[in-house]
Amino acid sequence: MTAIRKDDRLKDKVAIVTGAGSRASGIGNGRATAVVLARHGAQVTLVDSVAQWAEETKHLIDAEGGIAQIIEGDVSVPASCQAIVARTVAAWGRLDILVNNVGITGPRGNAIEVDPEAWDSAMRVNVASMMLMAKYAIPEMIRNGGGSIINLSSVAGLSGGHPSLLYPASKGAIVSLTRAMAAHHGRDGIRVNCIAPGTVYTPMVASRGMTPEMRKARSEGTLLGTEGTGWDIGYGALFLASDESRWITGITLPIDGGATAGSRGSPVPPSEPA
Ligand SMILES: NC(=O)c1ccc[n+]([C@@H]2O[C@H](COP(=O)([O-])OP(=O)(O)OC[C@H]3O[C@@H](n4cnc5c(N)ncnc54)[C@H](O)[C@@H]3O)[C@@H](O)[C@H]2O)c1
Repeated sequence: MTAIRKDDRLKDKVAIVTGAGSRASGIGNGRATAVVLARHGAQVTLVDSVAQWAEETKHLIDAEGGIAQIIEGDVSVPASCQAIVARTVAAWGRLDILVNNVGITGPRGNAIEVDPEAWDSAMRVNVASMMLMAKYAIPEMIRNGGGSIINLSSVAGLSGGHPSLLYPASKGAIVSLTRAMAAHHGRDGIRVNCIAPGTVYTPMVASRGMTPEMRKARSEGTLLGTEGTGWDIGYGALFLASDESRWITGITLPIDGGATAGSRGSPVPPSEPA
């Protein structure tokens, strides 16, 4: 766990983080984001389709003296999104920050192999869920004069080379959705930004059986040569949620150790002696 630095830059703010739990112990992007927002003063609704998976997140927040509540819900279902927003506002009177973190790997396969029905249902979880949460969150934000929405994409949405078609297609859509939503609601004082995590090591990745050698190889693919964690994503979300980023909207922020900035290049042969 990173060193705890507390301040009250989100004091009196109310946040919703979707997918704030995790199927395993350890720090996922949603869990880290929820803990970091609470650490800096926000009251946080922890949304997960499995309430039990959000409990560890709540324990972490409680242990630091933060304020959080768990709401079980499926963000691909409109009534569920409406209830999540309504219950948050009922509890704390307002809504300032929405982190649309839920995302699944979805069906594997290229265009020939992928199952079309599984495609539709994964697109609904990865993309439509962000529209649905925003649909109910934005009117509440407008009531307070503005807010900040942060959507979780992936570096897989910025470049090709992923073995599946669904995951990068859905993550790329989130980049465009972010820009369009930022244009629609900027004059309402609502900022909409996107984070594209790189190959951070989270329970989602660990559950795929990643060996130490594979982790080292992934890290080597970054300019920094080091591995990222959920905390790196959480601190990016903190910046985009806070007033420090008040003049930033519509962007996609890669948090990836420099992976999308380029490679270190091929070694240059030593020059011939004169
Ligand atoms: N881990 C990585 O390396 C990585 C890299 C790039 C992008 N991302 C993105 O980060 C986001 C999530 O990361 P994480 O580490 O928090 O994942 P995670 O798997 O640890 O947690 C996601 C949580 O979302 C919940 N969830 C799934 N479907 C839901 C639904 N329909 N409604 C409500 N809750 C639901 C799950 O129960 C789970 O607890 C995703 O958008 C993912 O695509 C992750």
